[in-house]
Amino acid sequence: MNTHPAPRHHPSSPARIAVLASGGGSNLQVLIDHFGGAGTRTGRIVWVGSDKATAGALTRAASAGVPTAVLADPRDGEALVATLQAAGADLLVLAGYLKLIPEAVVRAFHGRLMNIHPALLPAFGGAGMYGQRIHAAVLEHGATVTGVTVHFVDAHYDRGPIIAQWPVPVLPGDTPASLGARVLRTEHALLPLCVDAVASGAVALGEDGNVHGQVAVPVSPTTAEWRFGLVPDTAGAAAAFASEWARLFPR
Ligand code: GRF
Repeated sequence: MNTHPAPRHHPSSPARIAVLASGGGSNLQVLIDHFGGAGTRTGRIVWVGSDKATAGALTRAASAGVPTAVLADPRDGEALVATLQAAGADLLVLAGYLKLIPEAVVRAFHGRLMNIHPALLPAFGGAGMYGQRIHAAVLEHGATVTGVTVHFVDAHYDRGPIIAQWPVPVLPGDTPASLGARVLRTEHALLPLCVDAVASGAVALGEDGNVHGQVAVPVSPTTAEWRFGLVPDTAGAAAAFASEWARLFPR
């Protein structure tokens, strides 16, 4: 079976983006909305796969007219590489995908395989660290800041060179659910920017194993999604944001 590196797309043509997801797929939906049905100058979602036939992500993809598949055996790397190459994928995004990516896929998509994790890696990552468990662990440890990490994937869970991170404050009275919801809002803002940057070549994994280029984050206290997932629906939230901003970015 051919597991040679999948052909790289020419930077002048839109990247053909494949997505793996295990759950509801809200991060996938953000990518579908960002790249749109016909795709953008930088990319198009061409395939969505899951290890679960009941994954909401598959329904979202089907509604957007994107071909979908349920993996017969998520451990079978050569089968997955063949499926991805048949879809003509040249960039693979893990958006809430819980299975370990087989080495054959890591090799074939080296530098074009990225994952989003709802914590500031390397903290609160690794096997078994997913969903609410992460936010519960953050609260248990009394951490006052958590956040989102998008990184290139290697053969280990939640390891690999970091593309971008964004902090999210832990607020008094937070539960794993309230913290998770605030982090998810920031995930939805950061992921499309990161996928776009890698698809366009603005950010790349160098032969030296380092990330080259930077994701342009439109930081401003006024742009809602960059308020660390805080939706200023109350004066309190806006005030909380202002004090967090001051603490995280002391002038
Ligand atoms: C997100 O928090 C993601 O970071 C994590 O799983 C959650 C999935 O969310 N890996 P969704 O399926 O994209 O809504």
